Amino acid sequence: MNLNLTTKNIHTDMEILLVKNKKIKSDKEILKQLKFKGNDEECVLLPELKKIYVGCEDESHDSIRIAIATAIKKLNTTNFKSAIIKYKDNMGAIVDGCKLGNYIFDKYKSKKEEVEEKNIYIKLDKIDKNIQKEFDEAVFICESVNLVRDFVNTAPDDFYPAIMAQEAIKIAKANELECKILDEEYLEKINMNAMLAVGRASRHKSKLIHLRYEPKKKAKKKIVLVGKGLTYDSGGLSLKPSDFMSTMKSDKSGGCAVLGIMNIVSKLNLPLEVHGIVGAVENMIGGDAYKPDDVLTAKNGKTIEIRNTDAEGRLVLADCLCYAQDEIKDIDYLFDFATLTGACVVGVGEYTSGIMGNNSMLNYEIVQSAIDSGEYATTLPFNRFLKKTIKSEIADICNISSTRYGGAITAAMFLENFIKDENKQKWSHIDIAGPAYVEKAWGYNPYGASGAGVRLALQFMKNL
Ligand code: BES
Ligand code: ZN
Ligand code: ZN
Repeated sequence: MNLNLTTKNIHTDMEILLVKNKKIKSDKEILKQLKFKGNDEECVLLPELKKIYVGCEDESHDSIRIAIATAIKKLNTTNFKSAIIKYKDNMGAIVDGCKLGNYIFDKYKSKKEEVEEKNIYIKLDKIDKNIQKEFDEAVFICESVNLVRDFVNTAPDDFYPAIMAQEAIKIAKANELECKILDEEYLEKINMNAMLAVGRASRHKSKLIHLRYEPKKKAKKKIVLVGKGLTYDSGGLSLKPSDFMSTMKSDKSGGCAVLGIMNIVSKLNLPLEVHGIVGAVENMIGGDAYKPDDVLTAKNGKTIEIRNTDAEGRLVLADCLCYAQDEIKDIDYLFDFATLTGACVVGVGEYTSGIMGNNSMLNYEIVQSAIDSGEYATTLPFNRFLKKTIKSEIADICNISSTRYGGAITAAMFLENFIKDENKQKWSHIDIAGPAYVEKAWGYNPYGASGAGVRLALQFMKNL
């Protein structure tokens, strides 16, 4: 898709018109005949009038994103080559609708669907610096979201830790970021035994990816982003039932989101020092696999009793969080992104990320950034009683809770054991298990990866 701003009255094959609040203002007769009401995701194409009408239930950014995406998908089912959208406001939402709604993943289709490249114009009276900036930023962010979708959608045997590291190197080169790839030998030296145990039964060696962006002028804040990069989660010896195992290529979504965010920070010229750290690991079975009853010692010396090898993400994150805090001093914000628990999906639904941590103000700020950026998120509060459920009889802590309830929160509380005192108020955990992977298309998200976390994080950073 070619997406452009224009002040000219370009002649296009189609015009996209949003019907807001179900108020039909033009072509009333024909739309009535077609029983078009202007509901969300309702769309009609009138070839003779060269118009696409699409419902937009209210004026919110989210409704605009969904409406534009619906219209673009309609256009893609035709041979019409171009469309114009008359801009009123919400440039970011229009761009999101176009770019995110247009995404298809056809890497593995031997016969690709023939969708001719469309020219989409956003028409305004005048293009000033601010609107151009808003447009450019939204385009960059959407392209990165789509890159993350490509990564996550890629099959696990085509996207294993070494490939993830290669992609990180590409992103680093393209954006002049510092990049370190740490291999198993080095991780052993620095005692990242929890992460190494998870990857031990895999034929793919684990990798730790560390990217760093430093602005040209002195950075105002230092932000550290840590991602769960489980390129496949079979559950390990606590093997997942088949129905739950498929889609687990998406367990790398947190790590991929971190790569996607690092792909934009320099393009946006943010006055922040940003670190992206990803634990890229595959959780498999075999004679060499770690097992329930093992006791692992994490990088910070804490011992962990393993009772379920499917609670592996928290082990990888524990070591990566320790690594981050040992390597990077004077952190202002420490966030981790992970498809950590099924419990989070059960608790808040498949569209919403769960935000957890000790600092409820910070958690709320993240929720606000999510909403402003078009993502859904909510906070899940800690309490003293849930904290007791991850105690172990034989080690410092157990990798699963003794209760079946509150699993998203107990997982976050496990992670809290690996946050240094000075960072306790600076850390938030973002469980993207629900929205990261879409099994039934919604809004502008087709089947498969959504790129959750990227827009949320960039919005937070832009607000600083
Ligand atoms: N990767 C899964 C969590 C998950 C589930 C992500 C569904 C996306 C969709 C994680 O590693 C896991 O298996 N967690 C277990 C934890 C349990 C063993 C305490 C879970 O959620 O069942
Ligand atoms: Zn698991
Ligand atoms: Zn997992």
